[in-house]
Amino acid sequence: MKSKDFSVKRKMVILGAGGMAREAAWIAEEISQRSPSLAWQVIGFWQADPQLIGTIINGYPVLDPTQLDGHGMYAIAAIGQPAIRQKVVKQAIEKGFSFARLIHPDVVLDFNTTSMGDGVIICPGTTLTTNITIGQHVIINAGCTVSHDCILEDYATLSPGCHLAGFTHLEEMAFMGIGSVTIENHHIGRQSVVGAGAVVIDDIPANSTAIGIPAKVKHQ
Ligand SMILES: CC(C)(COP(=O)(O)OP(=O)(O)OC[C@H]1O[C@@H](n2cnc3c(N)ncnc32)[C@H](O)[C@@H]1OP(=O)(O)O)[C@@H](O)C(=O)NCCC(=O)NCCS
Repeated sequence: MKSKDFSVKRKMVILGAGGMAREAAWIAEEISQRSPSLAWQVIGFWQADPQLIGTIINGYPVLDPTQLDGHGMYAIAAIGQPAIRQKVVKQAIEKGFSFARLIHPDVVLDFNTTSMGDGVIICPGTTLTTNITIGQHVIINAGCTVSHDCILEDYATLSPGCHLAGFTHLEEMAFMGIGSVTIENHHIGRQSVVGAGAVVIDDIPANSTAIGIPAKVKHQ
């Protein structure tokens, strides 16, 4: 049997050109170095800002989205803000891109009982335990804990250092700020934001911002 040619790398465009996008490029490099059979060739960043197009960020060019044909290529949406991430994903789908997953090799995760959609990014230092459901285009940043039976719907986002107790359910586009935590069995509603350092002990309704210890919905 012929051995696999690991020099043929899968091509990936990173959607975004900010901090999360640079982190995604780094994770792709780490995967490529540590697991040659899963190697990525990062083509560049996708960013519509004409001031950035043509510049180089961390060694990768910023590409003009209007000039890209995604057929035969992968993309990953590395944009922290869930609503913007969703918008750019839709544009990339129209261009024919498929979606990759970027899971840093140091992530601890039970592949047997975890289900995961396309476009997911999981940063190093994160542990996911058992029976976890992760939707599409979810970002789990560095140093998080996702405990048993959690559900993270599409575009849900964990900032660095979030800890979710068992049976936490993040609805679509829910955003957990840096260092926020939940106790078990609670829902974070669709498109809600949990502020940095908050401790969630009640359900958080959809389209709201909750802050503090215990987390309370912030009224404008
Ligand atoms: C909760 C958050 C979204 C609120 O943002 P905002 O609507 O712009 O709110 P403001 O900064 O105008 O602050 C409004 C009030 O809430 C307070 N507040 C803001 N964030 C808070 C937080 N995380 N915890 C406690 N109080 C907070 C402010 O002190 C202010 O109080 P005041 O009205 O008594 O002066 C934001 O502060 C936050 O925590 N974002 C998370 C950022 C993050 O984790 N990023 C990750 C990057 S990787």
